[in-house]
Amino acid sequence: MKKPIRVTLTGPAGNIGYATVFRIAAGEMFGPDQPVILSLLEIPPTLPVLHGVGMELEDCAYPLLHDLVLTDDPAVGFKDADYAMLIGAKPRGKGMERKDLITENAKIFSAQGKAINDHASGDVRVLIVGNPANTNALIAAANAPDLDARQFTAMTRLDHNLAMGQLANKTNSLVGDIKRMTVWGNHSLTQYPDIGNCLVDGTPAYDLVSRDWAMDEMVPRVQKRGAEVIEARGSSSAASAGDAAIDHVRDWALGTPEGDWVSMSIPSDGSYGISEGIVYSFPVTVKDGEYEIVQGLELDDNDIARMKASEAELLEERAMIEDLLS
Ligand code: NAD
Ligand code: LMR
Repeated sequence: MKKPIRVTLTGPAGNIGYATVFRIAAGEMFGPDQPVILSLLEIPPTLPVLHGVGMELEDCAYPLLHDLVLTDDPAVGFKDADYAMLIGAKPRGKGMERKDLITENAKIFSAQGKAINDHASGDVRVLIVGNPANTNALIAAANAPDLDARQFTAMTRLDHNLAMGQLANKTNSLVGDIKRMTVWGNHSLTQYPDIGNCLVDGTPAYDLVSRDWAMDEMVPRVQKRGAEVIEARGSSSAASAGDAAIDHVRDWALGTPEGDWVSMSIPSDGSYGISEGIVYSFPVTVKDGEYEIVQGLELDDNDIARMKASEAELLEERAMIEDLLS
């Protein structure tokens, strides 16, 4: 029997958390032979709901769920965490941009960065989902001085996945036939979903679709999809966000398939001329739990202008929360 992996998840009583915890306990993140311990962290007002979620988890009788911790104390919630999925934060409503959440949500991530630093495993791997996710990841990492900033990542996997869906629809192909999707930049309106290196069943995407379609239809659609879902559902994406969070952590833990890559927001190391000191979405491969940016991709002036616009937005967001970085 393998040693259980301890996963801390924040916001389990919320929409995304509720759509995610059962799937982790069922083995969908680390596989059907990997036990897990779930440590679920909420805030005091939602403890009754959290206990309800706990009852349901028990009632599912998941063989892989070896222990369950329900708490509103970050010191308890993050204790010995191998993975931390930071979902708990305020979502935006209709008419808002994600960065409008920055003041309210930023303080959650400075406090949780400190708690992770003090209580999690030294090897912990952290995924930030709560918006604005990239800048929240920067804040959490800055507040965890004993850990490597590379242990803190943010989620652009939902954008990556939904861009694959758009391309599959347009080319009448299966999502499983699409490889090498890239999302550059911020999880925001400035993100750049780039199909310039995509293969559709082995054929370059631009042999099958026009650049006009990509720039005028696909890119804006992906950029605005979160708002489109809010408009339709009255609340932000939940099941698809939970699904993407599971994909992100699974690929970080178990690796990316040969010949393919995924998009992860990670601390920039200066690759592709993107400033260090921001958390930016790059194409990455993962092996043995370590991610590496895919190097050497060809970019034209349009690609670079779009990547730079997203970098500029992240630098602006960083300036807004500079006081939380030290
Ligand atoms: P929700 O309001 O349904 O749930 C949030 C939960 O977090 C609530 O249960 C709340 O009590 C809890 N919470 C708040 N502060 C907390 C704290 N300090 N510690 C622990 N728990 C805390 O919201 P949701 O729909 O689940 O969305 C959560 C966040 O994820 C939002 O910020 C949303 O914008 C973001 N999001 C990001 C992506 C992405 O792709 N990166 C996708 C979808 C949603
Ligand atoms: C999303 O991409 O669905 C989330 O970031 C939620 C939102 O506010 O759009």
